[in-house]
Parts: sequence; C-alpha cells; structure tokens
Amino acid sequence: MIACFSFHAGKGFMRARSAGVNGDLAVADHWVENHKRDSWRRQAKASGYRARSAFKLKQIQERFQLVREGDFVLDVGCHPGGWAQVAVELVGEKGKVVGVDLEPCAPVEGAVLLTGDITDPMTQERILGELEGELLNVIVSDISPHITGKWDMDQSVALTLVADVMDFSLPLLKKGGGFTTKLFQGVGVEELIRAVRPHFSSVRRFSPDASRNSSSEVYLVCKHHTPWKAPKTSLRQRFEAELDVVLGGSEIADEPEPVASSFKVLKKKTKEDIEER
Ligand SMILES: C[S@@+](CC[C@H](N)C(=O)[O-])C[C@H]1O[C@@H](n2cnc3c(N)ncnc32)[C@H](O)[C@@H]1O
Repeated sequence: MIACFSFHAGKGFMRARSAGVNGDLAVADHWVENHKRDSWRRQAKASGYRARSAFKLKQIQERFQLVREGDFVLDVGCHPGGWAQVAVELVGEKGKVVGVDLEPCAPVEGAVLLTGDITDPMTQERILGELEGELLNVIVSDISPHITGKWDMDQSVALTLVADVMDFSLPLLKKGGGFTTKLFQGVGVEELIRAVRPHFSSVRRFSPDASRNSSSEVYLVCKHHTPWKAPKTSLRQRFEAELDVVLGGSEIADEPEPVASSFKVLKKKTKEDIEER
C-alpha cells in the first residue's frame, strides 16, 4: 500500500513540475480522487458489497431515511447488485426488492433481479408482473446509459433516460413514496428538476461522499409523492419542451405561418413589360 502511495505521488510530482501550478493542482486532485475511490472500493469488498456504489445508497439513506423496513423497492439499473444488497438490508424480511438492468445480475438473496431494458414494454410488463397489483414505496435508480465519451451527448441521453424511467415508474409509486435517481450535471438538469418538482413535496440534490469528487454525478432525492398535484402529461415531454425553449428550439415547423412584410422586390422593367402597357 505504501509503495502504491509513493509511486502515484512521485509520478504526479514529476508531471506537475512540467505543467506548472495549475497542472500541479490537477494532478494532486486526480490522485486524491483515485485514492478515495479505491478506498470505497476496498471498503465495499471488506463489507461484502459488490460495488462501491453501495455506499452511495447507504449515504443517501443516512441523510434522507428514504427506505423503511417492510417497504417494496424497485431498483433501476441494478447491475452488479450493490444497491440491491443495501435495499434488501433496509427493507428486511417483510419487504420486497425488484431490480432491473440490461446486464444479467448474479442473484442477491431476498431480491428478484430482472434482465432487460426498462424502456422496453416487454421488460415493463415483467416488472408489473412482479408487482402483482401492489404499488411501490420507493424507487431507487442509479441508471446510467452506455458512455460514448462524447460528454454533451452522453449527458443529454442520461437525462432523457431518467425522464423515461420516471414516466414509467411514477404511476407505480404509492402516494407519499420516495424516489432517488442519479443525474449528470449539465445542460437540462434544471429543466428536468422543474419537471419533477410537482410530483413530490420535497426534491433535493445530494452528493454522497462515495461519489467521485471530479464526477459530475449528483443524486436527486424526492420524498412524499404527490400524484394528485402532478400534471397528467408525460414528464419527458414537459422536460423536452422546457429544454427546447432554453436552447432556442431545435426543429423548424413543417408549415411556417406566412409572415406579413412590407418588403417588396422591385424588378427592373423589361422591354416586353413596357410594350404590354
Ligand atoms: C452505475 S450502474 C448501477 C450500479 C448499481 N446501482 C450497483 O450498485 O450495483 C448503472 C447501470 O444502469 C444500467 N442501465 C443503463 N441503461 C439501462 C436501461 N435502459 N435499462 C436497464 N438498465 C440500464 C447499466 O447496464 C448499468 O449496469
């Protein structure tokens, strides 16, 4: 461990010397982040959790007491199963946890983990089948789409996915229920949060310590579901409509309204025009 520490520190110092003061800070920050992330990973391993992300849900729970014993929880984007493990602990024997992910998950005792795309109607049918007509107390979503590396595109796809998850799952959430979801900060976050607000009486942003420092991820923690106050229209449509206004609109209307104008084209008279008179 000490060898690892000095190796990184030494390497960072050498790079920083050529990069100047700002480079020095950037390298130091990077090292601290990596060190923290590794420390959460080690803790996860030592505690028997499959992923360091388990600590993010634990920290959300410590702060907001989202999940209670006996609750019915839907875990969206559950692979490899860290949140499902924590959710099972929190709901206890009387509770129920259903998870869904594109990737198959190794079983977690006490949870039903489905493989499929949550936006696919067939997967949605399977989730409804697991609910057996019951409503959920809490939805926890750590979903993040496949990253292409093109930051703007990834971030915008991630926000749309969150809106889709909400459109599908909010009707399954009990009155008074809770919801948490990962968001990536950037264009559209404020508009998405505005679209979510009418559905809950409390909507807060939270950055767990277990999230990487440099990461733009933040969790939205929503409590006290208020379905009677929420608009009946699709959350994704409201979000995209607001975003369109901010971005100045992305589409040209099919048949634009004719615009009255006093502008006239003056053509030079031809010989024929003159002869016609
Ligand atoms: C950060 S991981 C979740 C980690 C998990 N919370 C844990 O603690 O083990 C995000 C997951 O979202 C899943 N995902 C992305 N798009 C999805 C979709 N449309 N439907 C279901 N899962 C999806 C990915 O496959 C990925 O496993």
